Amino acid sequence: MFSIGKLFKRVLPQTLLGRSLLIIVSPLILLQIFSTWVFFERHWDTVAIRLARGLAGDIAATMVLLRENPGPKGREAAFTFATTHFQVRGSFKEKAILKNATPRPNAGRLERVLRKALSDRTKRPLVIDADSFDRDVIIDIQLPDGVLHLIAPRKRLFTSTTYLFIGLMVGSSLILFAVAMVFMRNQIRPIRRLAAAADALGKGRDVEVFRLQGATEVRQAATAFNRMRDRLQRQVSQRTEMLAGVSHDLRTPLTRMKLQLAMLGDTPSAQELKADVAEMERMVEGYLAFARGEGSEPVTRTNLRDLVEDVVAAARRAGNMVDFTAEGDLTLSVRKEGLRRCISNLVSNATQYGTRAVVSTIRKPDFIELTVDDDGPGIPEKMHETVFRPFARLDQSRNVETGGVGLGLTIARDMVHAHGGEIALSDSPLGGLRARIRLPV
Ligand SMILES: Nc1ncnc2c1ncn2[C@@H]1O[C@H](COP(=O)(O)OP(=O)(O)O)[C@@H](O)[C@H]1O
Ligand SMILES: [Mg+2]
Repeated sequence: MFSIGKLFKRVLPQTLLGRSLLIIVSPLILLQIFSTWVFFERHWDTVAIRLARGLAGDIAATMVLLRENPGPKGREAAFTFATTHFQVRGSFKEKAILKNATPRPNAGRLERVLRKALSDRTKRPLVIDADSFDRDVIIDIQLPDGVLHLIAPRKRLFTSTTYLFIGLMVGSSLILFAVAMVFMRNQIRPIRRLAAAADALGKGRDVEVFRLQGATEVRQAATAFNRMRDRLQRQVSQRTEMLAGVSHDLRTPLTRMKLQLAMLGDTPSAQELKADVAEMERMVEGYLAFARGEGSEPVTRTNLRDLVEDVVAAARRAGNMVDFTAEGDLTLSVRKEGLRRCISNLVSNATQYGTRAVVSTIRKPDFIELTVDDDGPGIPEKMHETVFRPFARLDQSRNVETGGVGLGLTIARDMVHAHGGEIALSDSPLGGLRARIRLPV
């Protein structure tokens, strides 16, 4: 359904800047329209009527002169007088009869006003032509013995202050608009920066302390944001520190258990214990890798093709079927080891849960895209978010076969976000899962 509300939403500006400008500018325009209307209705009309009456008076005077000075000589003198004193040039057509002396229905404002003024003064049939010439208005008046033909300058009927006034209005509103725009932009910039910082924090990137700036409300929001950011970072670091501590402490007794198991010999129960201990060790290594993070590693120019080839080669050595294709220039600045772990987590998931993996890397205009496909069971759409959570596993058994601790995707996502990239899961054309990474170049 197409409703008015939706239409409004579509037409009205979406940004804060656009909206605040609209709030400032629309009353301004309304005010201008209103005052222009008042100006035209009152002032301009009055002025036009007075000017027309002035000209009509002069024409009436010329007619009196003509009447009192009959004959060609007298007319000559009267017209000379009118030209010098009234700026109205005249001529006389003897015995002529005026046609079409009725008012034109589509006459302009000027013509109407002038006709009224002239009719009031002269009480004679007349024809006004205000359209044929730019600078002049032609007036023909029927006199008893012929037609009086007059050319009056348009200037006498028109004031240029009208245009001046409109120009002033439009000019001043444009200036006002520009000033408002500059000031509003400055007010809105800190809000935009805050939004960008919040977005980055939400995506798990490192965010600097936000500098306080702008209006009180924005500063309040910024202070709250900084506090939230600090608390988040403290919580995350406390958690990872604890995890690192626990994992590290578990290592020592695990090593001792391994030694004792080695001395126990090869009974079936000892073997089971050994497998359990090996699994525990792998888990502890996983926790440690997660807790350590790769945050401190420096960024280097790396060719992603080589990096992915390494990972793929390692997976093939472990007996997996992995295809690899790469397209375009794949060099970018990354934390190499971190990214290697990230990609290898995805590849090992694909080989663990499927029988075949396809890795492809392609250069797009603004980013490099890496996809890992497999032919395994895939992940149902509604679990796509869940599996990124730490320790989230769909396979509850934690068995040795698929043995992981549910940190692989978490580490991968952290790493991608630390590079300003995105990671997403979808269904693969191979039938299993597709993991897609986009890294900005
Ligand atoms: N390629 C895949 N195919 C099917 N399921 C997958 C795939 N990758 C990950 N998963 C599911 O997502 C869960 C989380 O993966 P991950 O974070 O790598 O942890 P782990 O592999 O250690 O279990 C896995 O337990 C598995 O259930
Ligand atoms: Mg995994």
